Amino acid sequence: MRGRFITLEGGEGAGKSTQLPLLAEWLRSRIDTVVTTREPGGSALGEEVRELLLGHRGQAMSADAELLLVFAARAEHLDKIIAPALNAGHWVLCDRFTDATYAYQGAGRGIEEDRIAAVEQWVQGALRPDLCIVLDIPVAEGMGRAGRRSQPDRFEIEDRAFFERVRESYLRRAAVDSGRYVVMDARQSVERLQARIRERVEACLLGPHD
Ligand code: TMP
Repeated sequence: MRGRFITLEGGEGAGKSTQLPLLAEWLRSRIDTVVTTREPGGSALGEEVRELLLGHRGQAMSADAELLLVFAARAEHLDKIIAPALNAGHWVLCDRFTDATYAYQGAGRGIEEDRIAAVEQWVQGALRPDLCIVLDIPVAEGMGRAGRRSQPDRFEIEDRAFFERVRESYLRRAAVDSGRYVVMDARQSVERLQARIRERVEACLLGPHD
């Protein structure tokens, strides 16, 4: 029986990296093996690609190069980590996946959705997350939270309009597929938000398996 594939998404400062380990800890008391991972990254090569994507380079990276690097990392991640885990019946919790590509490279950088969808199909085939949890926060608030952390990476230096487009993209995609997406207000306390996330994932636990 294939495992479940759950992704956490959201703009900067939404709290994914706080919520994901809490969810994993809870899930491990119910499921034998839960793999936590992230994008870009997750595999050895993917983590190297992450450095290329997030690091500041002398020359601006073209949007197409960025898109293809994201998917190169994803192809490796799927091959080495995600597909083997799911095929072994393990659950995979992933901090960001292809919805982030539609949000950042699509809405943010302006790459047409059709072109992203073509690469998505090529790299992933039919594989899509079973559930995508979008942690939603107003841009100014999220940027304020993220700004209090370390040195900004190559995405975090983008302006507010960029992150407004990112947020809109997540909300738009979630609105057209409410079975596979859930949007949660990330301004709740860590505990309340985690409780909401667990309720939703519980439904996934009890739901029909492939
Ligand atoms: P993180 O800060 O949540 O770890 O994510 C790293 C950055 O990578 C974040 O700013 C969003 C960006 N990103 C993309 O631009 N496209 C993608 O497909 C993914 C997975 C992440």
